[in-house]
Amino acid sequence: MTVTSPLIDLQGVHYAPEGRPVLSGISLRTQARRIGIVGRNGSGKTSLARVMAGLVPLAEGRVRIAGTDVARDRKAALAKVGILFQNPDHQIIFPTVEEEIGFGLRQQGHSKADVAAKVAETLAGFGKTHWASAALHQLSQGQRQLVCLMSVLAMRPALIILDEPLAGLDIPTTRQLQRVLAGLDISLVQITHDPHMVQGYDRVIWLEGGTIAAEGPAAPVLAAFSRRMAELGDGDDLTDLAG
Ligand SMILES: Nc1ncnc2c1ncn2[C@@H]1O[C@H](COP(=O)(O)OP(=O)(O)O)[C@@H](O)[C@H]1O
Ligand SMILES: [Mg+2]
Repeated sequence: MTVTSPLIDLQGVHYAPEGRPVLSGISLRTQARRIGIVGRNGSGKTSLARVMAGLVPLAEGRVRIAGTDVARDRKAALAKVGILFQNPDHQIIFPTVEEEIGFGLRQQGHSKADVAAKVAETLAGFGKTHWASAALHQLSQGQRQLVCLMSVLAMRPALIILDEPLAGLDIPTTRQLQRVLAGLDISLVQITHDPHMVQGYDRVIWLEGGTIAAEGPAAPVLAAFSRRMAELGDGDDLTDLAG
């Protein structure tokens, strides 16, 4: 009998970079395909994304994605989890689209011919074959974000984490990328401070001060979160204004 590991399995996660507690007591087990993480600025969303991608060491606890200890086994982690950051320019390192998409595949150890085939297949899947030798600096921010998404998808991870990938994009670009994301046959974690982005998701986690304030089905969690955000916004106390 095969026992399937949960897609996301965090147990007792404490993360304290430079000794400063940023996440504490985070436990989460889920098989959900669409997971939203909401919270205010500074609530620990990006830190949790980095923890789930295995990019940072934990003070305590453990994190497994599809059965892999992603912090320890970095090579296996590349096949399990991909991460897309808010600013594509923090992610892009190559001058052309095909080199950028090929990078992760080369890191995964694919042969040169395999890399070329997978890059071509990924571009074709998005109807962007003509972008192959395009210079990234000549694409718009939304187009560069799409290249980053293609780079992550090319590696065929079990899960992708999107850390506010649509912040800063205009409304048509946001809608186009949302549609692309909705159509993906892959498990997604989307991080956002905007409850509308994760409406209808299977599960939503609300982070506050580095801990889970609430989690469960999208509707009740987002309703409670929106109520709380409106209360804070209507209050006069500026000491609570997010930095
Ligand atoms: N490497 C780090 N060293 C020290 N403090 C950090 C580090 N990373 C994040 N923090 C702090 O942890 C808190 C949460 O940050 P972050 O995860 O970026 O929140 P969010 O993405 O929700 O805005 C912030 O107060 C931030 O300054
Ligand atoms: Mg953030």
